[in-house]
Amino acid sequence: MKTVTTQETQAAIEAQAATDRLGSFITFEDLAADEKALVQETWNVAKNAYVPLSHFPVGAALLAQNPYGQTKVFKGCNVENRFFQATICAERNAATTAIAEGYTRFLKVALVLQNYQGPGASPCGLCRQVLLEFGFDAVVLQVADKQSNVYRYRVGDLLPAAGHEPVACTKLDPSHKRAVRRLKQSLARAYTPYSRKPRAAVCIADDENGRTRQWLGVTDENASYGGSAAAECVAMRNARSAGFTRNATLVVAVDSLSAPNPIEGECLQVLREFGPDAKVILVDGDAAVLSSVSELLPDSFGPQALS
Ligand code: THU
Repeated sequence: MKTVTTQETQAAIEAQAATDRLGSFITFEDLAADEKALVQETWNVAKNAYVPLSHFPVGAALLAQNPYGQTKVFKGCNVENRFFQATICAERNAATTAIAEGYTRFLKVALVLQNYQGPGASPCGLCRQVLLEFGFDAVVLQVADKQSNVYRYRVGDLLPAAGHEPVACTKLDPSHKRAVRRLKQSLARAYTPYSRKPRAAVCIADDENGRTRQWLGVTDENASYGGSAAAECVAMRNARSAGFTRNATLVVAVDSLSAPNPIEGECLQVLREFGPDAKVILVDGDAAVLSSVSELLPDSFGPQALS
């Protein structure tokens, strides 16, 4: 029997995740004239990407509308920083420029995310979240190849709702039940002077010896907002710091089990680094929905995009 290494298994899962594309494939010729122009702009702006760390240039060209009905194209590239966290992605760069000029309704956005082999990757969770704020129905044209053919879908498709039916929390596995109890008990520790929306999350994961532990996180806000940490991210980072990174399940209390975008894109992006098969349990009162990072962050931007 052929023995398969963990790396090979991981690579196979990554390859599978990479083929689960969002949207429909459209050739460049079949795009509308304004869409062709947007796609061409993404290539141009990607040339300005400042990417000394990743060598992964990204371009975004965003068609947006202001309250007077005027439309304009805004461009953005990724701008990296030696402090990884200070990097701004191309999509958010374009989005914030549009907002600064008063163009608050996003209509269409073309994206090119390219590694050494060519374009094709999808936006990260944080950019998905920001695009969603200004255009749930905006059209995404994600460049698929060097010929500028695209995958076409809606921004809302990037952060969908969980699809499974709710189950009673009493029916969950004992370890999941324990996590739900801990969530509820820990809410009061959340530090949320700005949002006043306390959240808690538990990350259940295994270490390399197969031991399973639970790691708690609560919201930790600060006055600069962007430096705040979501409860989910704190929980996952606690797990990683202790060496518990395998078979991750994130248990989190949400406002609605059926709404789109139940967990912030950034949290899903952090979970994605635990692997494309990481699980999510959404909890609302006495009911829970079982989901996964592949469902809530479809066609995710993962480590495979950078190789
Ligand atoms: N990046 C983007 O610009 N947009 C995305 O949606 C994903 C990631 C950038 C950030 C960093 O400069 C590089 O791509 C590698 O992650």
